[in-house]
Amino acid sequence: MRILVLGGGWFLGRAVVSGALERGWEVTTFTRGLSSVPVPGAVAVHGDRERPEDLARLAGEGPWDAVIDTSASELSPHVVRSGARTLEPVVGRYVYVSTVAVYEGWPAEPLNTCSPVWAASADAGPEAVRPPDSASGINPGYGRRKAGTEHAVTETFGLSRTSLLRPGVLLGPGEYVGRLPWWLRRTERGGVILAPGNPTRRVQAVDVRDVATFALDQALHVGHQVHNLGSPIGRETMGGFLQACMDVTGSTGELLWVEDEILLHHGLRQWTELPLWWTHPGVSVIDSASAVAAGFHSRPLAETVADTWHWLSQGNTPVPHRRWAKHGIDPAKEQAVLDGIAYEGALRSPNP
Ligand SMILES: NC(=O)c1ccc[n+]([C@@H]2O[C@H](COP(=O)([O-])OP(=O)(O)OC[C@H]3O[C@@H](n4cnc5c(N)ncnc54)[C@H](OP(=O)(O)O)[C@@H]3O)[C@@H](O)[C@H]2O)c1
Repeated sequence: MRILVLGGGWFLGRAVVSGALERGWEVTTFTRGLSSVPVPGAVAVHGDRERPEDLARLAGEGPWDAVIDTSASELSPHVVRSGARTLEPVVGRYVYVSTVAVYEGWPAEPLNTCSPVWAASADAGPEAVRPPDSASGINPGYGRRKAGTEHAVTETFGLSRTSLLRPGVLLGPGEYVGRLPWWLRRTERGGVILAPGNPTRRVQAVDVRDVATFALDQALHVGHQVHNLGSPIGRETMGGFLQACMDVTGSTGELLWVEDEILLHHGLRQWTELPLWWTHPGVSVIDSASAVAAGFHSRPLAETVADTWHWLSQGNTPVPHRRWAKHGIDPAKEQAVLDGIAYEGALRSPNP
């Protein structure tokens, strides 16, 4: 089996490359070569997906049985379509890593693969790339853009040669965004730890290695495949997640669970300032039944937490990325919120 991985430098792409090499497959990666060193054993081609001449040069290295596209988180549909058209003659199947954000109902409603997807055009250009709303953490521009990129792929390769994979939030070794690594460092530091919302609230992350394994399996499939990828609904909770972080880091700290309303009153940014905290009701109700029927396995979140801590403890550091800076609450702000809560609590308590 010969595959092309668009991306392959970090996180999901790197997990895909490692998994393919373990299967004995021949792997070509395509990155700009800006942010990481290639995985040993893969053939690294460097170039920019936004430059048609670079894609044409890449196509000259083919053919491949399949391409697994892991590097289109920031590209417009127009760019993805242009690249797909260049690669189509030399690639058998296109496995496209999309996102649950393509659903109109995300993150307000429970979702399955029949839920309505944003109407979006495969022609859309850079205007489709918009920043998220900072208070709610929702980025409708991202979902619409990724919906457009899905069309770009299916229109070019045809439905029968495409797999569309729609994961929820990815965690695991190599994470560069700053979600799980931030919680691990925070619990390691100890003290009173601001724990968001309710410990019984569902969380539904997915391990990057499980998505990589499934993407490789999909490279062998035939016919049109569309799958959501998340852990089983209700299996994981915020309380279980933070306790797993406390356990693996040997934390001497204490979790102080604070209601959503109080956190919102103090102006905390959802999703980023306390990573994975989101009050939207549909955020952890993604149905992955079709993927499970096709062989998808989601490991327990505690295993992801332990392996990521092991990865960090080996002295590994995530690839530098601007997203990192947006994650985690400043310690002084956390303390100010805790002090404010203690003060308000004292005011409310009955006189002795
Ligand atoms: N992270 C999540 O929680 C999450 C959740 C759901 C879905 N997804 C989807 O999963 C996919 C993988 O996400 P990710 O966060 O692992 O990676 P990513 O940020 O989408 O891609 C990073 C890789 O792509 C390369 N790259 C970036 N721009 C490029 C360009 N213009 N030309 C060539 N190569 C380029 C980078 O290497 P160089 O810098 O060296 O070029 C790097 O190896 C994305 O499609 C994303 O939308 C992610």
